[in-house]
Amino acid sequence: MAEVILNKVNKKFGKVHIIKDVDLHIDHGEFVVFVGPSGCGKSTLLRLVAGLEDVTDGILTINGEVCNDLPPPDRGIGMVFQSYALYPHMTVFENMAFGLRLAETAQDTVESRVNETAKILQLDHLLERKPKELSGGQRQRVAIGRAIVREPRVFLFDEPLSNLDAALRVQMRMEIAKLHKRLGVTMIYVTHDQVEAMTLATKIVVLDAGRVEQVGSPLDLYNHPANTFVAGFIGSPKMNFLSGTLLKPGVHSSQVQLHRGKVITVSANTQDCKAGDHVTVGIRPEHIRLGEEDAFVDGGVEVAVIEQLGNESLMYFSTPQSSEPLVVRLEGQSKISAGDRCPVELPAEHCHLFDENGQAFQRSVVGG
Ligand SMILES: Nc1ncnc2c1ncn2[C@@H]1O[C@H](COP(=O)(O)OP(=O)(O)OP(=O)(O)O)[C@@H](O)[C@H]1O
Ligand SMILES: [Mg+2]
Repeated sequence: MAEVILNKVNKKFGKVHIIKDVDLHIDHGEFVVFVGPSGCGKSTLLRLVAGLEDVTDGILTINGEVCNDLPPPDRGIGMVFQSYALYPHMTVFENMAFGLRLAETAQDTVESRVNETAKILQLDHLLERKPKELSGGQRQRVAIGRAIVREPRVFLFDEPLSNLDAALRVQMRMEIAKLHKRLGVTMIYVTHDQVEAMTLATKIVVLDAGRVEQVGSPLDLYNHPANTFVAGFIGSPKMNFLSGTLLKPGVHSSQVQLHRGKVITVSANTQDCKAGDHVTVGIRPEHIRLGEEDAFVDGGVEVAVIEQLGNESLMYFSTPQSSEPLVVRLEGQSKISAGDRCPVELPAEHCHLFDENGQAFQRSVVGG
């Protein structure tokens, strides 16, 4: 078990500033997931914790011990990468035992640790096989096993499932969740997959251009994104944004004049603002309702595209308040076709509101 603390951590490669003033407190046994656009610094941050890169400025502690200058093998960290090169000429057993052998661990300890780990990962019947005789998921489990046998205090995963097909990913996602429960160790996990982030994390860290935008539980981030970046990043398809101006500020509800459109009510606290301030309304695709009265034009919006996914349908339409088409998620198989007119409603309690700098106003509702 280990607690990991980053205090104003910075990383520069030459003159390029990649990680900027990152403060993070990761408790014992937490499952922390880093998300953010490609190139924002997720892998670099993991590599700083592992000691594969040096911290340029700031302090990194593991279990209260400053680790900035501690060599990687002394940090008690196990890392699993996206590309998990196994040794092709070695058996599963020897692949898993390799790190322990390097550390000159006694033979009976090697055997007991590898056998025990193989049982946890259901690899015990495959120990004599070579990597080429395994499926992708089995190989991935060997890579995880190789990290487990070292009994690390912290596990770092860098997109470990992105090479696997969809079905295997679902299976391995559950395996990793079970593993976390069983071992109770601290895990830090990087992924591009929304579902992995939402389901595995006790805490999600959203990064943008080397900075932490928000840290919180998955539902916290979904229900109360701090700004338009997080709002647009968490959730798929992403949140719709509409430009407008504040017509009537309020504590529990605020009236917004949509740009070249109608007036809508949003359950957000804008008491410190004045009428005329520029705002952005956000609403998730699953929260737009097909109703009686249209929030945009009388008679309803014109459906541009409808995508049938079997379990749900996605409906797209354009409005003057947004440069991108808005998307509505409908349950099941919709009868609506492109070209139809459809009244859509924006329920006040589901709308988010952001100021002109993209910072969220406090919502006066608790849930999604
Ligand atoms: N050794 C290095 N020297 C110079 N720049 C680097 C080095 N390693 C990474 N970078 C740069 O740092 C930035 C962050 O890279 P990083 O690999 O951490 O991103 P990431 O968030 O993991 O992206 P992805 O989602 O694509 O894996 C990128 O702009 C990258 O080009
Ligand atoms: Mg990366």
